[in-house]
Amino acid sequence: MVLKGKYFAILAHTLILHVGLVFLGGSSSFANESDIYCLRTIKDSLEDTYNHLSSSWNFENNTEGFICKFKGVECWHPDENRVLNISLSDMGLKGEFPHGIGNCTSLASLDLSSNKLSGSIPSNISDKLPFVTSLDLSSNSFSGEIPLSLANCTYLNVLKLDHNQLTGMIPPQLARLNQIQKFSVSNNLLSGPVPSFDSTVTAESYANNIRLWGAFEILPKYYQ
Ligand SMILES: *[C@@H]1O[C@H](CO)[C@@H](O)[C@H](O)[C@H]1NC(C)=O
Ligand SMILES: *[C@@H]1O[C@H](CO)[C@@H](O)[C@H](O)[C@H]1NC(C)=O
Ligand SMILES: *[C@@H]1O[C@H](CO)[C@@H](O)[C@H](O)[C@H]1NC(C)=O
Ligand SMILES: *[C@@H]1O[C@H](CO)[C@@H](O)[C@H](O)[C@H]1NC(C)=O
Ligand SMILES: *[C@@H]1O[C@H](CO)[C@@H](O)[C@H](O)[C@H]1NC(C)=O
Ligand SMILES: *[C@@H]1O[C@H](CO)[C@@H](O)[C@H](O)[C@H]1NC(C)=O
Repeated sequence: MVLKGKYFAILAHTLILHVGLVFLGGSSSFANESDIYCLRTIKDSLEDTYNHLSSSWNFENNTEGFICKFKGVECWHPDENRVLNISLSDMGLKGEFPHGIGNCTSLASLDLSSNKLSGSIPSNISDKLPFVTSLDLSSNSFSGEIPLSLANCTYLNVLKLDHNQLTGMIPPQLARLNQIQKFSVSNNLLSGPVPSFDSTVTAESYANNIRLWGAFEILPKYYQ
């Protein structure tokens, strides 16, 4: 009887420990504030001219998965605060590239196209977006050079940087991006040789720059 009691106590103890661990495991993802913090910093760092974010990105209701209902936000799972996709195209947003984006640690796709964003594209963008498959920063006012670190975003399928004010050379190392299907840097102020991609990137992707050259003829701005 005493033995039985002891056995029961051990069993109960194991059970409590086990349930406790399961609970902790579950709650650590529940308590992971990283993606919430990410969206909060994006909202805070951008000037939201037409109130697209302020009308939808409400951080008051803190239920799991609440950020997944925000305008332009898609999660891996609708009940889990883990952002897959941010799509904020054509929302009249102003400001610099939102640096807090690195806290959305599972982000696969970012579209900030057709806004009024300016300043440079962060030189450590691959640390911020290591798993990004699609990056669209087109039709903004980004300036400075195309960061070399983009060559480290090895999952990129789509890279659209057209219609900005980017200067300098296109890093030849971008040719390492062997998953690239869509690439566009047209309508910038770029010069120099173009990367030798394996895939078929056409002259159109490079049109309207200062002076680019490669395997095919690319006419500079003043000839078009
Ligand atoms: C939150 O998630 C990220 C990425 O999955 C992970 O690196 C980090 O350790 C997590 N933090 C907590 C407190 O669980
Ligand atoms: C956000 O990312 C930075 C840089 O990686 C990190 O130091 C910080 O702890 C993160 N914040 C949260 C709330 O996850
Ligand atoms: C919070 O959001 C959830 C899911 O959208 C909803 O069911 C719940 O009623 C909301 N709570 C409050 C206090 O708004
Ligand atoms: C991200 O969202 C866009 C627009 O809603 C969609 O076209 C695209 O397929 C999504 N990407 C992923 C990886 O889910
Ligand atoms: C990237 O650079 C910015 C400043 O340019 C810095 O604040 C940040 O900590 C760096 N690293 C990451 C992972 O964002
Ligand atoms: C790219 O990744 C390599 C290997 O992790 C690293 O040594 C290098 O500094 C990175 N380059 C840039 C420009 O981020």
